[in-house]
Amino acid sequence: MQAYKYEVFTSAIESNIKKGILKPGSRLPSTREIKDKYHLSISSVQSGYDYLVIKGLVKNIPRSGYFVASDIQQPIAEPLLHPSFGQKNEAFNKNIELISVRNKPSEYASFNSATPTDLLVPQKLILRKMQEVIREKGTSLLRYYPVNGSGELKNQIADRACQYGCTFNPEELIITDGALQALYIALASVTNAGDHIAVESPCVFSVLEVIEGLKLKAIEIPVDREVGFDTQYFKEVCRDNEIKALIVTPNFHNPTGILMTDGTKKELLSIATHYQFPIIENDIYGDLYFGTERPSNIQSFDVDGWVMTFSSFSKTLAPGIRLGWLHSGRFYAQTERLKFSLGRSVAPIYQELLIKLLNDQSYDKHLRSFMKQLQRQAKEVLDTLHTYFPDGSYFGVPQGGYSIWGCLPKGVNMEMFYAYCEDHRILFTPGEIFTLTDRLNHHFRIIFAERITPHSLTSLQNIGKKVKELL
Ligand SMILES: Cc1ncc(COP(=O)(O)O)c(C=O)c1O
Repeated sequence: MQAYKYEVFTSAIESNIKKGILKPGSRLPSTREIKDKYHLSISSVQSGYDYLVIKGLVKNIPRSGYFVASDIQQPIAEPLLHPSFGQKNEAFNKNIELISVRNKPSEYASFNSATPTDLLVPQKLILRKMQEVIREKGTSLLRYYPVNGSGELKNQIADRACQYGCTFNPEELIITDGALQALYIALASVTNAGDHIAVESPCVFSVLEVIEGLKLKAIEIPVDREVGFDTQYFKEVCRDNEIKALIVTPNFHNPTGILMTDGTKKELLSIATHYQFPIIENDIYGDLYFGTERPSNIQSFDVDGWVMTFSSFSKTLAPGIRLGWLHSGRFYAQTERLKFSLGRSVAPIYQELLIKLLNDQSYDKHLRSFMKQLQRQAKEVLDTLHTYFPDGSYFGVPQGGYSIWGCLPKGVNMEMFYAYCEDHRILFTPGEIFTLTDRLNHHFRIIFAERITPHSLTSLQNIGKKVKELL
């Protein structure tokens, strides 16, 4: 992924803080000094300082400037026990921290991690069923399972999908180690390094990482608040570029929470069919709908086999259950080989666990209460956002999934916003990590699958009031 421009100065500051050259409390250069020295724009400098503030290395004191945080633990000539020869990618590590740091030492209100909080994971149910599986299946769980997954599990997944209109052939399903592996397999089997692929914008960071890992060139197509996707712009992109695949999350897209209309789904399919490239459809949030009916998949409109659909149980059950699936249709032969090369079979215990949970309906029962809880939490968070944030702020109203997409008025200084978030111990995911461009700097993602407490709602209220002051 493209390095951030501001790294030219943030990496030097970070390393000098870590080495103890910059002492806690010492003043850092002003935004203007950095801008002039490194020939950066003011907004890049501010993003760089935001990043250092979020990492807890730097404090912003309004009207005084930036200072090295005073509570930093500095190493006293730490002995190097295991020399490291590999260089870490700082942009990658920063993004991982932004999307996954929760349970920080003090009581942070986490709205940044797209995983169900432990309280929403049906822990007792899962552990009980796992024990039953171990008792019933015994040592057979220690063997390799069929290369593409258990036949029984594939039949169950195909049967479930049939209820909402998908026509999956169980023979063309592959059980994978989570959804991201399914995406990797689908994408790698239809592209070569350097190919252009289209992707929704904003796009979840992990998907951008897969694209980057395969050395593909991503063309970002804006999602549309009303219909889900800017098909007009997409048609122009297809006319001017040789697109090899489109990756979309039509149902409760992460990070915007948007549900694509059936009209848009059909239109995308007709564009892909016309230009003859596959649509790789991510349905990881499709089971988490707040309405009365489960939304459709693009695959259900597909008669020519141009859609590959994938999902997993990471968002609906627990992320530690590494079980996903890919229906690859006409691309089955190449995806099957690729899956084999990535690991022969998914852990049998997870496959048997899912067979059990699907067979005895306990998955559906859990989904019903989980969706209600998510819907309640979404409402609580939205009500607070709408009440306390200033006019001109935008918050998408999700019809399912986990996330609310927020945008603050242009007049808000985002550097100060994140500094206040840090001071009020509240974590959001900044919009800029969902794009390779710099057009989402005023956006941020709010996840409501964490435990919503009176404390976290009060934190949201305080932030909203502060944002009003920042205008
Ligand atoms: C849209 C989307 N796709 C894929 C994934 C990864 O899923 P898994 O853990 O099953 O690999 C995530 C997780 O954040 C996601 O939000």
